[in-house]
Amino acid sequence: MPRQSEENGRVADGEVLLKVTGLQKHFPIKKGLLQRQVGAVHAVDGLDFEVRSGETLGVVGESGCGKSTMGRLITRLLEPTGGKVEFEGKDITHLGVTGMRPMRRDVQMIFQDPYSSLNPRHTIGTIIGAPFRLQGVEPEGGIKKEVQRLLSVVGLNPEHYNRYPHEFSGGQRQRIGIARALALKPKLVVADEPVSALDVSIQAQVVNLMDDLQEELGLTYVIIAHDLSVVRHVSDRIAVMYLGKIVELADRDLLYKTPMHPYTKALMSAVPIPDPKRKNAKSERILLKGDVPSPISPPSGCRFHTRCWKATEICRTTEPALVELRPGQQVACHHPENFEDQAPQDTVLLSAAKEAAELVADEVLAESAQTSEALATAVAEGEVGTEEATASADAGTEEAGASEEAAASDESAASEEPEASESSEQADEEAEAPEEPATAEKPAVAEKPAVAEKPAVAEKPAASED
Ligand SMILES: Nc1ncnc2c1ncn2[C@@H]1O[C@H](COP(=O)(O)OP(=O)(O)OP(=O)(O)O)[C@@H](O)[C@H]1O
Ligand code: SF4
Ligand SMILES: [Mg+2]
Repeated sequence: MPRQSEENGRVADGEVLLKVTGLQKHFPIKKGLLQRQVGAVHAVDGLDFEVRSGETLGVVGESGCGKSTMGRLITRLLEPTGGKVEFEGKDITHLGVTGMRPMRRDVQMIFQDPYSSLNPRHTIGTIIGAPFRLQGVEPEGGIKKEVQRLLSVVGLNPEHYNRYPHEFSGGQRQRIGIARALALKPKLVVADEPVSALDVSIQAQVVNLMDDLQEELGLTYVIIAHDLSVVRHVSDRIAVMYLGKIVELADRDLLYKTPMHPYTKALMSAVPIPDPKRKNAKSERILLKGDVPSPISPPSGCRFHTRCWKATEICRTTEPALVELRPGQQVACHHPENFEDQAPQDTVLLSAAKEAAELVADEVLAESAQTSEALATAVAEGEVGTEEATASADAGTEEAGASEEAAASDESAASEEPEASESSEQADEEAEAPEEPATAEKPAVAEKPAVAEKPAVAEKPAASED
């Protein structure tokens, strides 16, 4: 049973506040007149994790991997298919509306879309005051006074009490959502993509506000995001999800310095790191190919094996368990990165796996860039034949456009736009797709004149500098 601090009945900092064991949510697929169940979407398929009091747990993963479903399960907005959810040591997995009522004060959710999550017919005062009315709580000084106090806590004008949601910007609406979530002084706040619908400039403000409030009110957060850049600054620990499972759960610094799951590595390599000190650091971009498989019939064994460049036979047949390979780092992989058992040399990689991802080393990109520069100079000086020069110039223009797109996508990835990491990968792939991309095994392409037709690669260092 977790230790409770005496003065406010809260679990002491660092103690387990929420514990999830084998959590599952399968949405049934029904067909026909009789609505017979013909299958199920395995949205969340066996999660095990804990959230400690006072910490921020970030949850990341591609679209459709089950993040929102997980958030709704732990706040008990959805009924789990299997597994267990414990809050402060109490099993809340199957509590009904009445049983959950006292719990509702302690566990709150901030939703992704500030435009649809506020009732347009209600004033701000009514929206933020609703939790008091629903819970039958009369704050000191009355609801209106408390709502106005909350408005000023989240940086809004208390005079705007009688205004309607449409009179506010996206960032202001999200502040309203935060004020509503905080009204009853919750212990745990689950924020589902709290900033991804907002402008880049506003995102930082909202994230900082949440950070300040956490310190001030001793909140515990579970923050869900599409990619690693949002949770990077705020999380103590990060869980990486893939197709309804947690594939890696680690302390933030460990995850960034030495990601162990190949999927985490791929996700991280797609996120530009705006750190000038790391500008020349050696890195590798991993471009995952193919779509996320369907959660209706997830792949056998390791669910990532259809896209993993290290997949071997065991990955196809045996599901790896989430185990602590280093203190503070749990990983579900047969051949983890940054570990003794990297891809075993004597094991045959699955042939499909070899095609699953493209590894583009920075050195190769830089080499191509140099060759391209040299060629551009040669063209300018008339050293290259007309036909060849025209071809390379044309290719250059086209591909430069494509890589600008890629760079723009990368910027949007930095800005934590939804789908950003995916679109950045796609844009990267598009930029390289027309020709055979340069790979670590093919540095020779850099020496051929044909490289002139591949300036997309030559342009890549812009992205790789991130
Ligand atoms: N009510 C529902 N009925 C049927 N399937 C659902 C339902 N809600 C979610 N799903 C499915 O469950 C899977 C996980 O969805 P979820 O919304 O949890 O993903 P997500 O990781 O939050 O994605 P995103 O990043 O796009 O928000 C998806 O395949 C989705 O289609
Ligand atoms: S190496 Fe195997 S177990 Fe590890 S992520 Fe790749 S496919 Fe999965
Ligand atoms: Mg979601």
